Amino acid sequence: MSGVNDIRSTFLDYYRKNGHEVVSSSPLVPRNDPTLMFTNAGMVQFKNVFTGLESRPYSTATSSQKCVRAGGKHNDLDNVGYTARHLTFFEMLGNFSFGDYFKEQAIEFAWDLVTKGFDLPKGRLLVTVYAEDDEAAELWKKIAGFSDDKIIRIPTSDNFWQMGDTGPCGPCSEIFIDQGEHVWGGPPGSPEEDGDRFLEFWNLVFMQFDQTAPGERTPLPRPSIDTGMGLERMACILQGVQSVFETDLFRNLIAATEEVVGVKAQGDQAASFRIIADHLRSSAFLIADGVLPSNEGRGYVLRRIMRRAMRHMELLGAREPLMWKLLPTLVQEMGRAYPELVRAEALTSETLKLEETRFRKTLDRGLTLLSDATADLTKGDSLDGETAFKLYDTYGFPLDLTQDALRAREIGVDLTGFNDAMQRQKAEARAHWSGSGDKATETVWFELKEKHGATEFLGYDTETAEGVIQAIVRDGASVEAASAGEQVQIVVNQTPFYGESGGQMGDTGVISTDHARLEVTDTQKKGEGLFVHIAKVVSGTIKAGEPVALTVDNGRRSQLRSNHSATHLLHEALREVLGTHVAQKGSLVAPERLRFDVSHPKPMSVEELQKVEEMANAIILQNALVTTRLMSVDDAIAEGAMALFGEKYGDEVRVVSMGTAIEGEKAGKPYSIELCGGTHVNATGDIGLVRVLGESAVGAGVRRVEAVTGAAARAYLAEQDDRVKTLATALKVQPSEVVSRVEALIDERRKLERELADAKRRLAMGGGNGAAGENDFREVGGIKYLGKVLEGIDAKDLKGLADEGKASLGSGVVTLVGVSADGKASAVVAVTPDLTERFSAVDLVRTASVALGGKGGGGRPDMAQAGGPDGSKAAEAIEAVAAVLGA
Ligand code: ALA
Repeated sequence: MSGVNDIRSTFLDYYRKNGHEVVSSSPLVPRNDPTLMFTNAGMVQFKNVFTGLESRPYSTATSSQKCVRAGGKHNDLDNVGYTARHLTFFEMLGNFSFGDYFKEQAIEFAWDLVTKGFDLPKGRLLVTVYAEDDEAAELWKKIAGFSDDKIIRIPTSDNFWQMGDTGPCGPCSEIFIDQGEHVWGGPPGSPEEDGDRFLEFWNLVFMQFDQTAPGERTPLPRPSIDTGMGLERMACILQGVQSVFETDLFRNLIAATEEVVGVKAQGDQAASFRIIADHLRSSAFLIADGVLPSNEGRGYVLRRIMRRAMRHMELLGAREPLMWKLLPTLVQEMGRAYPELVRAEALTSETLKLEETRFRKTLDRGLTLLSDATADLTKGDSLDGETAFKLYDTYGFPLDLTQDALRAREIGVDLTGFNDAMQRQKAEARAHWSGSGDKATETVWFELKEKHGATEFLGYDTETAEGVIQAIVRDGASVEAASAGEQVQIVVNQTPFYGESGGQMGDTGVISTDHARLEVTDTQKKGEGLFVHIAKVVSGTIKAGEPVALTVDNGRRSQLRSNHSATHLLHEALREVLGTHVAQKGSLVAPERLRFDVSHPKPMSVEELQKVEEMANAIILQNALVTTRLMSVDDAIAEGAMALFGEKYGDEVRVVSMGTAIEGEKAGKPYSIELCGGTHVNATGDIGLVRVLGESAVGAGVRRVEAVTGAAARAYLAEQDDRVKTLATALKVQPSEVVSRVEALIDERRKLERELADAKRRLAMGGGNGAAGENDFREVGGIKYLGKVLEGIDAKDLKGLADEGKASLGSGVVTLVGVSADGKASAVVAVTPDLTERFSAVDLVRTASVALGGKGGGGRPDMAQAGGPDGSKAAEAIEAVAAVLGA
């Protein structure tokens, strides 16, 4: 019972049997804490349960929690490799009581498990208690039967546990084991306490307070319990070894490193092996939880860890990227307990390789500079700050890497000089900074970015998180607070809200505290790295510096994810159907639809669009996982990734791949690969369905394709289907017959229109029942005259009718005035050829037009046409022409 897996299950089983809920480890990036860099203890995920903000269906729990202590209050980075027990990544076993049992029961459980469950010899155990905690001392005496010398009172913060600057806290009691005289070190509180002889392996915290701000503590609703046992330390004790690095898991990692570098882990070089093994674990677990190396925030801590390990690889003789070769051993050792390691293996491997490749470009020259600059230094000296800064700025050496490199020679670094150099560089950047556009507003963002650094974006992995308000901007200026009704822009240290970029719209949602609520209507990126929440305070007042809960509108974001991923699929499908000249010219990923513009010289046919849609849907049906990797731009392009038009890319880019190509050259390879910082579905099946609505022209050689996905696509299709059914009912046919029925109806209608026009004509001009009446014919001044008002005849038919009139007169003049349904008139005057010398149809029609309230017309001497607004004067127009003939 000494392997880590056995220890873990013994612990959890013990507490499960004692009524505790077994809770899974939470991610390393805390979701419920705005200030904590990494999950650094088992209690982190229960923080709000202790303070009473959150309630759970159980009042006692147990867990095995992955933890990273590298940055922030609990930072073990500098110790790793040089002591037997410090690790940046470790597993913490814990039991928790949320107002259920307290000190006595906690000590009883611990004593029982340690002495019976793990069978540790009582005689080698001892404990510390907080100096003022008489109660705990008494309980240890009673429960464990310890004499006073086994209960060491510690008056310092070592025995008052706090998770960070704020949060639940309380006095604690630590359990130690004496590893024997052969190991150097003294009991806790003694001058030799830093040695490894007395190993602390379990901390029992008697949670009593909530530290709300520096110097301010409020009591918790009820006294609670939080404990943490280092799994690796317990393994070390049970396996009878003096150092965590000698336990089975670390031995295997170290053996893999020996194999890869071809050097044995001994002598001066042993520390390097230990550092590499520990840092590999933290790197792999951080990457699996969504952290990627970068120059700020969590990403920079990861980069520091990775680069430090990589320098030690170099010390061991590595001359090419090798860290990634150790990953399979780690996955084999820990993948069963932590499946996320397996899921992220490819991503982790590539990220390690990329980081080591990049770092190796400057590593050699950096190390040369370092050794030249320190050649004359001896123990106790310091490297000048300028050189340390140059190593940082030009050669990518994080400060702590430089410190670590000089540690063995006991040479320090002039930190003041380093900070001065850093400040000088910032001042220069400030002096050279010139905003574009609205300078005053941009200056605000520039200054905020300088002061607070970039916003950490958490939205790839979560849609809710806590953050601390860094700034409230109102009308272009920073303000301290904002109240109900005010429109503001909020900057928070970390956020799950996506800032509009790469075509994807910004997120909307809610920012809230206990006493205020803001509605976020948009999120924009400003000042190169700030995410700005555009929000309205709906109720209460918020202040800069306050912690807030951030909740993205999840439904809207799901649609955005779906539409963004579908855009990638359509892009690739368009290239395959239309040709590789198709390049994306911009896109809009909105929640309700997506649209994107591509270069293509002519309209796309219905068949082409259908093919595109089919291809995209085939990949959706594959339900393949969407993978994101971090790569250098060059590598990404070399892999065939498509870059988005007009986007500015950094040195490293996120590369999003989805689906597997079914046919063609790429068969079996990723279907779509794009450089993209957007948010995407987990698997293509999440898109559900894509429906292309159509395409149109937006400029010379640029076509716009619009589409809908998921629920919107289904709603669109359902609506279309309803329409067809309604039509079928109205047409009294089956839906499948609607099209032929409508075509037949259209044909029939055309035929009927023709027949109707003929009939009307006949009716108007004689023949049939409606012959032109006797009254329509007369002689005026010796000229035969036909004048007739026609209702409901199209103006275009008047000329034909006038021709017929001329024919029936032989010689004479015809005036036809058509009156339309809206009361307007059009007149045609026709003059037979023998009379055109005497009368011009053009003149006559003008006369008619004047009578109709119009302004003349035009035509030829034998046939002219005019219009007028006043159809009621039709008869007068006919008489006006007659009057001219008779004059
Ligand atoms: N939260 C306590 C610790 O981390 C148990 O030591």
